[in-house]
Amino acid sequence: MARNPKSSLPLLLLLSLLAVSSAKVFFEERFTDGWESRWVVSDWKKDESMAGEWNFTSGKWNGDAEDKGIQTSQDYRFYAISAEYPEFSNKDKTLVFQFSVKHEQKLDCGGGYMKLLSGDVDQKKFGGETPYSIMFGPDICGYSTKKVHAILTYNGTNHLIKKEVPCETDQLTHVYTFIIRPDATYSILIDNVEKQTGSLYSDWSLLPPKQIKDPEAKKPEDWDDKEYIPDPEDKKPEGYDDIPKEIVDPEAKKPEDWDDEEDGEWTAPTIPNPEYKGEWKPKKIKNPNFKGKWKAPLIDNPDFKDDPDLYVFPNLKYVGIELWQVKSGTLFDNVLITDEPEYAKQVAEETWGKQKDAEKAAFEEAEKKREEEETKDEPADSDAEDEDDAEDAEDSDAAEESAETKEEAHDEL
Ligand SMILES: *[C@@H]1O[C@H](CO)[C@@H](O)[C@H](O)[C@H]1NC(C)=O
Ligand SMILES: *[C@@H]1O[C@H](CO)[C@@H](O)[C@H](O)[C@H]1NC(C)=O
Repeated sequence: MARNPKSSLPLLLLLSLLAVSSAKVFFEERFTDGWESRWVVSDWKKDESMAGEWNFTSGKWNGDAEDKGIQTSQDYRFYAISAEYPEFSNKDKTLVFQFSVKHEQKLDCGGGYMKLLSGDVDQKKFGGETPYSIMFGPDICGYSTKKVHAILTYNGTNHLIKKEVPCETDQLTHVYTFIIRPDATYSILIDNVEKQTGSLYSDWSLLPPKQIKDPEAKKPEDWDDKEYIPDPEDKKPEGYDDIPKEIVDPEAKKPEDWDDEEDGEWTAPTIPNPEYKGEWKPKKIKNPNFKGKWKAPLIDNPDFKDDPDLYVFPNLKYVGIELWQVKSGTLFDNVLITDEPEYAKQVAEETWGKQKDAEKAAFEEAEKKREEEETKDEPADSDAEDEDDAEDAEDSDAAEESAETKEEAHDEL
């Protein structure tokens, strides 16, 4: 052992190298030439001429012009594309689902998520209605939705994650990673940083809760849950009740032309008495017998039946993208399904990690150019400007409308 040169490596690094070398990769797509033979574009929405075209490109700004992905290229279109891999089950394995996504358009409403599908799917018919096992990735719609979806399908029902996981909203590439482990824990990472983690039991409502409030339990009669009580020592000041609520207005004067015989006897009007403090109440003090708010004790839920295979998807077979986009420009790349988080981390580092600085610089350059163009193109006469504005307004109206439809769809998920 001492003669093994590897033994000089720090143990953690050694372990991670071992882990990566034993990683099982179920699917990996870096979108190189020939990708079309591995992916099937669905006919979904084609007959309505609402099916959008994918563009094989590295985008308007990138860290490596040779590293292409697939990008939505038409506004107001549906997109559906999928790839098949040898069917597998993640039983007793960690499942890692990872991809990168870049919204080059300033996305106001649209998804950037992907799906894992099980069993047999007619890829030519893959669409919004096709059942899926996992849906994961960013989703942006208006101001209200800017989150990472992590939907698990269990027993035929789609369950949304109950925790908020904010997504990235800029125009750069980000890597989204979803890890599900055999101990029914999960992690969600963005750019190799863990953003959320926990248990499938508590962060989704896949099963009824393990424990419930005892429906039989009743608050004991003598349970004192009043935090404050009237001070028994406090006494009503003497003469308190003698202060009248109203007094005669000291400013009021009998009008000069008042005729007692015709108008009757003059009485001065009354006004609220500034001295009057309302009905006397003793001041409140902390209740020395306060026991806190009563809570029913928890008992085991008789409807709960554990499922040790809660995390298992036994027939994973396809990965797909199914989206509606108001504004196109979302670019997907580096799709990975593996059983080894360490390998996924390395892939992210080798792709997004290596390119992110150059991509950011290219983006900033492109923004600068765009701003310069805009100043240059600024029309001299204001009429033309008005027309532009009107067009912009129309565009955003349409976008808003679609945003609403989409938000409704969101609620139905
Ligand atoms: C594909 O993307 C490139 C880079 O952004 C762009 O120049 C080209 O016009 C796009 N093609 C289509 C058909 O949208
Ligand atoms: C699965 O769904 C069926 C029908 O909706 C339901 O009767 C059954 O209780 C569910 N099982 C679990 C474990 O949730």
